[in-house]
Order: sequence, then C-alpha cells, then structure tokens
Amino acid sequence: MMRDIGAPALGLDGGTRAHAVAVLNRVLSNTALLQQKTRKAHWDVVGPQFHSLHELWDKQYRRLDARVDQIAERVRQLGGYPIGTASGWVQNASVHENPGRVSSATDAVIELMIDHEQIVRSLRADIGKLQDDMRDYGTADFLTDLLRDHEEMAWMLRSLVQGEAVEADGEIAHGTVPQLA
Ligand SMILES: [Fe+2]
Repeated sequence: MMRDIGAPALGLDGGTRAHAVAVLNRVLSNTALLQQKTRKAHWDVVGPQFHSLHELWDKQYRRLDARVDQIAERVRQLGGYPIGTASGWVQNASVHENPGRVSSATDAVIELMIDHEQIVRSLRADIGKLQDDMRDYGTADFLTDLLRDHEEMAWMLRSLVQGEAVEADGEIAHGTVPQLA
C-alpha cells in the first residue's frame, strides 16, 4: 500500500489543478501527434529540398519529443497523470492525423505549419485563462515557453513556402499559405 501524503500543496486548489492537468493533457496529445507527423514528414520527403527538410524535421521532431516529456512531467507535478497511449492522444488532440497520405514536400511544410499555428492560437487562450483567472503562473509560464517554440517552428516552415512560385500543374499555388491577418 502506498502512503497517502495528500495533494501537492502549491497554493492551487483542486479545481485549478484539474483544469491545468486537462489543458496539459490536451497539449501533450497535440505535441505527441505533431511530433509523429513531423517525423513521418522527415521519413517521406523527396525532391530538391530533401536534404534541408530532412534535417529540419529531424531537429523539430526531437524538439517536440523533448517537450512531450516535459509536459507529461508537469502533469505529474500538479498531481495528475499524463495520457500515455497513442489512442488517448488521438482522442484528446485537435491536431489531425492524415493516415495513408504522402504529401509533396511543399504540402507537408504547409500542413505542419498550419498545425503549429493552430497550437499557438489555442495555447494563447489557455495561457490567458491559467494566468489571469487561475493564477497558475507556473503552468502559464511553461506553456508560454512552449508557445514560443511553436511560433519559431511555424516561422521556419512558413519561411520555406512564403512566396513560392505557382507550379505548372497548379497543384501548389502561391497563396495557399495562409497570409498574416
Ligand atoms: Fe532520421
């Protein structure tokens, strides 16, 4: 039998910790799926950009993988348990998988960029609530650091395709990259 020493005494009530754990488990799910999608892109890429994209995605999936571990351990610090199954991640993520599809290099860049930007927007909302309403500064700061990571990765991907010329078959047209508002 395990000794019960109660919940972490961090000055956060149970409701706040439960909220933060739910947010972190959603973020964990998105990060784990995006890590795997990035790794798949690293495996699949072909074409003139092969070397640079293969290397970039290698760095990005390792960065995301390190984040998965940090997010899971933050869940434990708040007294929760991290989702640790692939099916659990799929259920909890807003990032979608594209099974059975091999994208062109440019399409893969755009798809991953869209995922990073979507995560940035949802993190921004989560951070606001955790910081201003719930005073969970530790989780808010942790997620802010993560948000900057996603902003940087989104920028790197966006920069690869911004201004890309229209291809002859029209498949990848200039303007398919969402522009800044
Ligand atoms: Fe590799």
